[in-house]
Amino acid sequence: MDRYERIFFWFSAAMLGVLLCALAYVTLGMHIHLPGPSGRIIPRAGQNLGAAVLSTPPFNHPGLRQTGPGEYEVVMLAQQWFFYPRRIQLPAGANVTFRVTSADVTHGFFIPGTRVNMMIIPGYVSVETYRFSRPGDYRIICHEYCGLDHHTMSAEVMVK
Ligand code: CUA
Repeated sequence: MDRYERIFFWFSAAMLGVLLCALAYVTLGMHIHLPGPSGRIIPRAGQNLGAAVLSTPPFNHPGLRQTGPGEYEVVMLAQQWFFYPRRIQLPAGANVTFRVTSADVTHGFFIPGTRVNMMIIPGYVSVETYRFSRPGDYRIICHEYCGLDHHTMSAEVMVK
């Protein structure tokens, strides 16, 4: 092998190694990953998806619940053209798991200023956890076009 070929070969191999280490570090070390569907709601025969979602736990009782000291879970429905619950209040430092599904069409779930950014697909449950360290009013917005009143679809997270 030519000398330059050898240098190029080892340089490429080293770059690949560095990038794989970086990938392992962010996924395993920093727990950064693509938010994915971690559940599905499948309607029974003759049942529409909306009815299936509204009768399947935990979506038959949407809302905020405390699951431990400083730990919360928000079960949320995305529908044309609102989120339910529309407003949630949390203490600063709360670690919150959002569990969201859609009963009709595809919606978005984005909280500007945070890394919470999900696509809400009908019948799939999207899950993301986030710690609200700083007090303030955060807005949840739908950033996936979902029909006429898409631009009005939002909810609030008040952190005190
Ligand atoms: Cu829901 Cu746009």
